[in-house]
Amino acid sequence: MSIRILATSPLVGTALSGLGARFPELLLAPFRSPEWKAALPQAEALVGVLSDALTEAELDAAPRLRAIGTLSVGVNHLPLEACRSRGIAVVNTPGVLTDATADLALALLLALTRRVAEGEALLRSGAWTGWEPNQLLGSGLAGKGCGILGSGPIGRAFARRALVLGMAPLFWDRTGHGGEVDFGLGQAPRLALRELLSRSAVLSIHCPLTDQTRHLLDRQALGQLPAGAFILNTARGGILDEDATLDLLEEGRLGGVGLDVYEGEPRVDPRWLRAPRTVLLPHLGSATVETREAMARLLCDGLATALSASR
Ligand code: DGY
Repeated sequence: MSIRILATSPLVGTALSGLGARFPELLLAPFRSPEWKAALPQAEALVGVLSDALTEAELDAAPRLRAIGTLSVGVNHLPLEACRSRGIAVVNTPGVLTDATADLALALLLALTRRVAEGEALLRSGAWTGWEPNQLLGSGLAGKGCGILGSGPIGRAFARRALVLGMAPLFWDRTGHGGEVDFGLGQAPRLALRELLSRSAVLSIHCPLTDQTRHLLDRQALGQLPAGAFILNTARGGILDEDATLDLLEEGRLGGVGLDVYEGEPRVDPRWLRAPRTVLLPHLGSATVETREAMARLLCDGLATALSASR
């Protein structure tokens, strides 16, 4: 059998089987399993997910490779320059996971600021003795600044949600500062990082992980946040310096941290599991049926186009 498409996991919906029917043969094998490695030399297209961090050496082992599809908008796990120089098309899934990811950031924000997990734990423990004026008091959001790192579709979608909560969105992006960002329900200022941080009661990360954004939020940057600020990361681990964040959290200088992504995931620094005022999720940003089906369709359509074009 000659393997044309090598996929590491089944996708939601029927898009992958449709691709396999159109471009036989398709092999499903876990990333770096013996079957996957054995099929690599024949593969013309790879289908993978964000944890399949391909290396240049693996590209060398795949001389027939013409396209790589990743079920993610993020492409930081792929050797992009090496793909470019070998003429290998990279197909990702922008656009279709915007609302799902912004919704999850909102869920983290409300869970953190209204202490949802602690309230649920209290109730389930059987220790709740009734309503009390001072019980599990959270933080209101209306009227406060919401700093958003990244003015792409997800950052702008989160700004719309923040506005509806009565917050004032503020943007930082890699294009520099000055001017305004139109986020669909209004305009918000694009600020220098230092100014944005100093005005952010809530800081939500929505930029890609690149050489420029790795540890953008280091100890010094985090020190600019107002006392009691909340940090949300639904973008990529590695943008936030987790050690520095944990130190500030443990010192009581942050209101809380909501994470969906981690540096080196799926490994999670055990300090997070003991840290106070955190909501920790296992990378669920795009995890809705509708979104994952749409991602699979976009990915498979893109691969079909790339394979047909290079026939
Ligand atoms: C992406 O697409 O990059 C997301 O992190 C997946 O949920």
